[in-house]
Amino acid sequence: MKGTVVYQSKFGSSRQVAEAIVKGLEYAGLEVELVRVADAGNLDPGIDLLVIGGPTRIGRAYGPIKRLAKRKFKEGWAGKLFATFSTGASIGTEKESPQASDVLQELLKENGLEPIAPPFKAGVDDMHGPLREGEVERAEQYGRELGSKLSGDAAG
Ligand SMILES: Cc1cc2nc3c(=O)[nH]c(=O)nc-3n(C[C@H](O)[C@H](O)[C@H](O)COP(=O)(O)O)c2cc1C
Repeated sequence: MKGTVVYQSKFGSSRQVAEAIVKGLEYAGLEVELVRVADAGNLDPGIDLLVIGGPTRIGRAYGPIKRLAKRKFKEGWAGKLFATFSTGASIGTEKESPQASDVLQELLKENGLEPIAPPFKAGVDDMHGPLREGEVERAEQYGRELGSKLSGDAAG
């Protein structure tokens, strides 16, 4: 089984989450490619799972990752399984904002892709990061769960 993880990251936290998800997916037996959003011009739809994510800005996804989710997955991607992730300073606080991963999930659904799991949200300590303690481990666990879910779906 093959997966692609596309990420956007300004300060590095979302990259760390993407890398941990890749690790978890690989643990579950997937062959995974990690792609920066800037290099995501020619993604191959011949994969079993797409994961995309990045930072939250003002309760939204912004810039290239949002454009990617909006426009890129039209031809040949309908029905493809996907999951999204995001990092944000407000996650788990009383004033949690909507997260980029929610927005990305909606955009991909609008393009006909199928979510395999709820979005993964990792908290950062400050407006510019770093990731809170334990978030890398949680991200790896999320990757493992995506991987076993995918294998389970394929078997069933
Ligand atoms: C201008 C700006 C707006 C932000 N808005 C939000 C927000 O609405 N909700 C939130 O949870 N975090 C917000 N954050 C925190 C970012 O999500 C944080 O910078 C991000 O997780 C870092 O990811 P990166 O290291 O991958 O760039 C904001 C940060 C900046 C700089």
